[in-house]
Amino acid sequence: MSEPAEDPDVLARRIARESLDQEDPTGWFERLYSAASEGDAVVPWDRGAAHPLLAEWVEESQPSGAGKTALIVGAGTGWDAELIADLGFDTTAFDISPTAIEAARRNHPDSKAHYVTADLLAPPPRWHRAFDLVVEIYTVQALPIELQSAATQQVGEQVAPGGTLLVIAAARPDNQPDEAVEGPPWPLTRAAIESFARPDLRLIQVVQSPSPADPSIQRWRAEYLRD
Ligand SMILES: C[S@@+](CC[C@H](N)C(=O)[O-])C[C@H]1O[C@@H](n2cnc3c(N)ncnc32)[C@H](O)[C@@H]1O
Repeated sequence: MSEPAEDPDVLARRIARESLDQEDPTGWFERLYSAASEGDAVVPWDRGAAHPLLAEWVEESQPSGAGKTALIVGAGTGWDAELIADLGFDTTAFDISPTAIEAARRNHPDSKAHYVTADLLAPPPRWHRAFDLVVEIYTVQALPIELQSAATQQVGEQVAPGGTLLVIAAARPDNQPDEAVEGPPWPLTRAAIESFARPDLRLIQVVQSPSPADPSIQRWRAEYLRD
């Protein structure tokens, strides 16, 4: 009798744990996307649509992308990038996983977005302060807590003067110690959300709301403006 296939969610967690145990905190993303492309795993965050809090922000803010640039961090298979590119932003969307980028190009063959493989922790120097809009959804929290401060800083460094940063993340209470979080993910405290701000990158709005799918999960939507 053949072995039953491993539950895809269990497999995703096992792939993450193996990488983390080998002190390779980002290697599991490519392994997971690659297993998913073979039909052996599911990518738990692949919603097949833009994140609802990004769609809500677009609805409220009505940003015009004409003549502007946007950067989508940890873009996965591209759904958020497509929403932003459709607003007219010249959109660059990147992910550390080449297989995710291939899937994004395949999912959106007529896309106006540029999909590229890159590492948030070592981004191309030409991106520095080059984007009028930077969108970060769930990438920083997918990294172990000891890497989050470097990742947070790199997100902010890509925002151009006069530009906007939008961050969407799962929330955790400030009094929950780091050691008590068994990631991935490692959700962000209010202090972590505030730490995207710099003297010239001001936090102008932060909203916390429950996830409609699971009201026990709180999410941040935070907006920052570079002077
Ligand atoms: C939890 S997923 C979120 C994906 C997408 N932003 C979303 O909300 O659906 C985190 C994404 O970040 C990517 N990622 C993780 N570390 C990264 C890094 N250092 N540089 C670029 N992308 C990274 C992963 O491959 C994955 O696609």
